[in-house]
This record gives sequence, structure tokens and C-alpha cells, in this order.
Amino acid sequence: LTTFYKWDTRTQPRITHLLKLENCNTTVSELLIPLAWTTVTQQLRKVPDIFFWGQRKRFSTMPEIETSKRDSELFSPPSDVRGMTKLDRTAFKKTVTIPVLKVRKEIVSRLMRSLKRAALQRPGIKRVIEDPEDEESRLIMLDPYKMFTHDSFEKAELNILKQLNVSPQITKYSLELTYENFKSEEILRAVLPEGQDVISGFSRVGHIAHLNLRDHQLPFKHLIGQVMIDKNPGITSAVNKINNIDNTYRNFQMEVLSGEENMMTKVRENNYTYEFDFSKVYWNPRLSTEHCRITELLKPGDVLFDVFAGVGPFAVPAAKKNCTVFANDLNPESHKWLLHNCKLNKVDRKVKVFNLDGKDFLQGPVREELMQQLGLSKERKHSVHIVMNLPAKAIEFLSAFKSLLDGQPCSSDLLPIVHCYSFSKDVNPAKDVQQQAGAVLGISLEACSSVHLVRNVAPNKEMLCITFQIPASILYKNQTINLGEHFLENLMKL
Ligand SMILES: C[S@@+](CC[C@H](N)C(=O)[O-])C[C@H]1O[C@@H](n2cnc3c(N)ncnc32)[C@H](O)[C@@H]1O
Repeated sequence: LTTFYKWDTRTQPRITHLLKLENCNTTVSELLIPLAWTTVTQQLRKVPDIFFWGQRKRFSTMPEIETSKRDSELFSPPSDVRGMTKLDRTAFKKTVTIPVLKVRKEIVSRLMRSLKRAALQRPGIKRVIEDPEDEESRLIMLDPYKMFTHDSFEKAELNILKQLNVSPQITKYSLELTYENFKSEEILRAVLPEGQDVISGFSRVGHIAHLNLRDHQLPFKHLIGQVMIDKNPGITSAVNKINNIDNTYRNFQMEVLSGEENMMTKVRENNYTYEFDFSKVYWNPRLSTEHCRITELLKPGDVLFDVFAGVGPFAVPAAKKNCTVFANDLNPESHKWLLHNCKLNKVDRKVKVFNLDGKDFLQGPVREELMQQLGLSKERKHSVHIVMNLPAKAIEFLSAFKSLLDGQPCSSDLLPIVHCYSFSKDVNPAKDVQQQAGAVLGISLEACSSVHLVRNVAPNKEMLCITFQIPASILYKNQTINLGEHFLENLMKL
């Protein structure tokens, strides 16, 4: 897997603002598998005066100086694949002429160490081949965009050739390229309409490549899916997202473009294993850093309530850290896989799993446990954390904390710490989230919360996490707002 960082330049001022708000690492990472080999053709276009060989003889001697027309499309698939919608791998055959250096076979490995710059580097192409005319010799394939004549060797390279008694004479070789020798980006660039974007990457979920195709790419969707499978070891299924993730259970509607229909998959995240049916539950590989960040805040013995737990990416690591975990999800499929993953990671004894609506979970099992935990000895050192990762709606669920508990408030350092996720399209997303959460609770959170930028979801849409301790005045029944806590603070500001 390769991680690349996709920064939306428009969000940079906002990111700076968030960093000031909270002295904590900010992550804007998108876990994607980039197709981004820098396009060979783009690179090649910068190279002036590349040679062109007319003859189709298999192996012949090149003239010493040859600066004819440059063939910038040397490593592009044949032009007649343009517009292909059903993948025909045989149509990608093409013969190209490659400069080669003839050397004695016994010095090949020694020489290759010194000719790294000059040697050809293409997927699936051997850099050293047998010499069809002399079994005691080998041909070293050279990069046709760097190596034209003996003058193309650098001084150090010429020195080593001299030492090993090799003539720097470059000859040429007709090489047949096939589908296997092209990179996925080269294939898609050759097939899709000229000048249109080829896909920029995909999310990987176990054996599944998860694409989000644009309209102009849809006529080629099955071909694109098959190329992703062919060119990415371990990928055996390619799916395209066909709706926005706005249903209750946050799972994608998806169409299998190519490969296995089976969406039962297994992923590794932060050293834990999760199994689930990707078509029925929520899983986002871009949240691994966030799962890790929250887990690192927890200490052994802490209590974690995970209100929207999915298949367990907060619950499992927390339980492994010896926390007591109460994990809940409304989706019966998530609940099933959550139980399964607790067993799979051998933490089923430390996690109590529920299949309730978030509000019922908070007002039922969470309330009951908090009444017990917070009423315990004042000596308790463990913290209580409540994670609420349902960014489109979680803030609304904060109202469930109002007057949740009876009796005497616990000491302020024992009050539960909430980590509540939200989206924001505001120019000041941190303030926006603080105001939204504060409005639901009827208090100001601006001075007593921190906001972490999780990721940039779309241009001008951020995912954030607001963290704060629930004030006793909110959590306990019959409490007047504690002037020391919020009211006074706000009055002072006025
Ligand atoms: C964005 S996912 C987060 C899952 C997991 N925490 C993670 O980080 O990958 C939100 C989860 O909330 C669940 N959910 C949605 N509405 C819910 C509700 N009203 N009560 C409880 N769970 C709910 C969904 O089924 C989904 O698994």
C-alpha cells in the first residue's frame, strides 16, 4: 500500500487555524493506491531529439550518431486501443526498438551495478537477455530515452566499460511489448478519450479495489475494473461506488465492475484483523490514523463507550489495551461482525456488544455503567471515554447526555470525555463544530474543548472530532449551571 497526501490548497488556511486551536498532530491523509507512476510520456516529452529506427531487423549495429525523429509514444500502447470498452489484451502487442549493449556473459552482474542509470526499467521486461547471435554474450537493454550513441554514457560508466574491456558501441534490438509490460495508467490513458482524466486512485479494502468513477469513465467501467485487478497483486474484485454514503448504516451501494462478486473480506489495520461483508457494513481505510489517535489517548483500565462502533476499529484496539469496552451499532450486520472481530482478535471477554440505536445505548447501558463507575471510590484513576463516530449526525445525539445521571455529581476529573465527530463546510470548521455541539448542550464549548481535523472529505468539507468533558451541570439531574464552569467564563468574556 502506498499512502499519498492529497492537500486541498483551499483548506490550508483553515488547517493552520486548527493547529493553533489544538497542539496536536493534524492528519489529512487519504489512503489511496495511486496509479501515479509519473507518466512516462510526460517525462519523455522533456527529452530532446530521441532517435527513431526505421528498420525492423531484429538485431543490427546502430550508426554512431543518429538524431532522427523522436518517438515520444514508444512505450504507449498501440493507438487503436483508444475507445476499447471490452478488454482485449492481445490488442496491446507492439514492437519497439531498444538500444542494447553487447557484453561477455561473465561480467554482466558486475557491469549492471554501474549501469543502473542507463539500463531500461519497465515492468516485466528483463534488463539482460541472451544474445541471439552469440551464446557467450548477453545484451543489456538500455533506456531509449537516455541512451542514443556511445556518447550517451557518462564518464564513470565509460571508465568501467574500459576497465572491463567492453566496447561502448550501442546496437539495437526489436522488443515485443505486450499488455503485461504496460502500467495501468498507460493502459487507461491509451483507452479513455484523449485529454480526459484517467482515474487517480482507489481505496483498497482487503481484496477489493473501491473506485469512485466519474461520468466520462463509466462507459469503460468494466475494462477499468479488470485493469485494476490485473495490475494490482492481491486485488481480485473491483467495485464502483454508486451512491453517496447517506443511508443509515453508512455502507456503500456498489456495483461489481470486474472479478469476484464476493464482498466478504479481511483487512489489517494497525496490526488488528477485521473481517466483514463490505457490501453490508461501513469500513473506511482512511480512518486508520484516527482509530490509532483515539486508541493512544486511552490508558489500561479506562472505560470506552463506542456508540457507533461499526465492525470494531476503536473497540478492538481499546480492548487490547486492557480497557473495558462497551461497543454498539444499530446495523445488525455490523453488530454481527463486531462480535466476530472481538473473537477474532481474542478480546471478546473485554468487550460488551450491543445492537441498539445510539440514544437508547446512551440512556440504557451507558447510563447504568456510568452510575456505577462514577459512584465508585473517589480514588479511581481511570478515565471514561465516549466515542461517537457518525459524523453526519452524532452531534444530535449529544442531547442524550442532558440530565442522564441522578444523585451527587462525581469529582470533575472523573467526568466522561466525549470524542464526537462531525462534518463542516464552514470557513472556520473548528468553531462551527464547537458552536453546533454547544447549541445542542445549551452551553459554550469554545473555551473548554479541542477540535482535531480528521480529514478533508471533499473540497470545502472537513471531518472533525470535538473532544470535551461533559460538565456535571449537563450530565446530572437537578443541577444548576455551575457558574465556575461555563457561565462565569462567558460572562467574563463579555
Ligand atoms: C461512520 S460509521 C463508523 C464506524 C466505526 N466507528 C469506524 O470508525 O469505522 C457509523 C456507524 O454508525 C452506525 N449507526 C448509524 N446510525 C446509528 C444509530 N442511530 N445508532 C447506532 N449506530 C448507528 C452505522 O451502522 C455505522 O456502522
